[in-house]
Amino acid sequence: EKKRIVISRYIGERAMSLLNELDRDEWDIILWKENEPASREWIEKNVPNATGLLVLLTDKVNESLLEIAGPSLRIVSTMSVGYDHVDTSALRKRGIKLGFTPDVLTFAVADLTVLLCLMATRNAGEGLTLVKNGQWPNLAFGPFTLCGPQIGAGVDGTKPYTVGFVGFGRIAQATLKRLAPYDISRCIYTNSTSRQAPGPQAPSEADKELAKSLGVGEIFAAPLDYVAKESDLVIVLAPGGPSTMHIIDERFLRAMKNHAVLVNTSRGTLVDTDALVTALREKWIWGTGLDVVEGEPLIKADHPLLALPRAVVLPHIGSATTDTREAMAMLAVTNLVNGVLGRELEREVKI
Ligand code: GLV
Ligand code: GLV
Repeated sequence: EKKRIVISRYIGERAMSLLNELDRDEWDIILWKENEPASREWIEKNVPNATGLLVLLTDKVNESLLEIAGPSLRIVSTMSVGYDHVDTSALRKRGIKLGFTPDVLTFAVADLTVLLCLMATRNAGEGLTLVKNGQWPNLAFGPFTLCGPQIGAGVDGTKPYTVGFVGFGRIAQATLKRLAPYDISRCIYTNSTSRQAPGPQAPSEADKELAKSLGVGEIFAAPLDYVAKESDLVIVLAPGGPSTMHIIDERFLRAMKNHAVLVNTSRGTLVDTDALVTALREKWIWGTGLDVVEGEPLIKADHPLLALPRAVVLPHIGSATTDTREAMAMLAVTNLVNGVLGRELEREVKI
């Protein structure tokens, strides 16, 4: 009987060719070939007795799927950096490895984050809509038409400007590096979900070094409430999952400055969408840029966010450059092949 590998989406010729390392007399490669996520039925039908499973973030890998797969499964490889679609404790208790694709997407996601910071502060979403709807003639060139807050130290270079990060990992730091030329006087971040204690912390040695190398005034950790209250721009780049569910809630949004902008390029579940809609309607904050929304991809045209001119919403394209997606695909297949052959994964989630 041949061993089997299940791949839930065709991920390009170059990545698929890495499977040639596996002898086809020994291995069956079962591929979902449609141009849409694999159906649950298809995965459940094919996963029994598989040694390896490659998934995208549209595929939920939970207890019941692992039960169906059975004890042969050694590796789950996800073509994503986030793994909130994977039940890591269910994997851990079965000794199944989890591969993921960090680093190769850091620049692409950081770029998209900056794009949303700029679009959201500068009314680019509303501007595009007005132009497409033929309303440019009505705008003339009003002296303050479509004006928004300026990122950074401002026209004379002296305005204090604080960027707050909720989550300060690789992508957040790459985003800060891209924003540093705007003359950022302060970067405050939180890596924990605790709201209060401890208060703002003295910059660590690593924070000091990073501030110096990027030319950012100062960088230090602080609780969520402090990030909310002090930031001119809040960027959410933390993992999804239960521990970060709705950490951007009504309380956070009410604490934000009226001219501040909220950008989320991580997972939609971190933001309470209803609270965000209220915050925009009632002008607690200036605007928002989102690449992810809770409940995606089922965000229809009548979603309340989409009626708000100050919400710029993109359909989860953070890592969507051709180079990055190809690198992610190659890394995902490399992890898969290494996993089924019992070798070290190139990038393994420590679960
Ligand atoms: C995309 O959101 C990813 O986790 O790779
Ligand atoms: C993800 O790669 C992160 O650490 O931000």
